[in-house]
Amino acid sequence: MSFNVAIDGPAGAGKSTIAKKVAKELGFIYVDTGAMYRAMALFLLKNNVDQEDKEAIGTKCQEADISIRYENGEQIVLLNGENVNGFIRTEEVGNMASVSSANPKLREKLVELQKKLAAETDVIMDGRDIGTCVLPNADVKVYLTASSKVRAMRRFKELEAKGLTCDLAQIEADIIERDNRDMTREHSPLKQAEDAQLVDSSDMTIDEVVEAICSLARAKM
Ligand code: DC
Repeated sequence: MSFNVAIDGPAGAGKSTIAKKVAKELGFIYVDTGAMYRAMALFLLKNNVDQEDKEAIGTKCQEADISIRYENGEQIVLLNGENVNGFIRTEEVGNMASVSSANPKLREKLVELQKKLAAETDVIMDGRDIGTCVLPNADVKVYLTASSKVRAMRRFKELEAKGLTCDLAQIEADIIERDNRDMTREHSPLKQAEDAQLVDSSDMTIDEVVEAICSLARAKM
């Protein structure tokens, strides 16, 4: 039986940074489910699907084949066979992913792939509904969060390091809007699973969070 670690939490909580490090420590595969929703969003944008048109999203997503492969421990997302890692990290794709991921048909397709991966391999998987829907029997469940102020500041610094000028208040407003959309949608909203451990990283270093999650996992292995 494979060992599964589920990490859920809002945008910018540091899930992927932490999960990658935990995966390395434990020798697990890191599955970034947000990247799959982003690849699907990219497909919809490329095909000019209107984000308000729920029926078109449900139909069109059936034409997208999303799969993943690993190269030197890095997850490569393939959209109809093409590596799209370089195209899915934009704000436009992120916003489309946040809207289109509310669609139950689209979710069904990706959740099936996620369950299959976790059944075959020891994984640490992050997203919004991993502990609640995708892996309800995960060995370890963590709900990783941080205040919207801290998350906005982290994003601000990331953008600044790339030489981009940005408005901190606007970033925080976008984060709050995204949280609200992810938490209030009808299907698989973001919420802490009853048996998940809450980790608030607002005042923790990355290494402290990694250690906390590795300890939870080691205690169950
Ligand atoms: O984690 P991220 O920012 O890459 O995710 C992009 C969007 O995908 C996010 O706004 C909500 C959606 N998502 C989801 O609905 N369920 C998941 N398991 C992962 C992401």
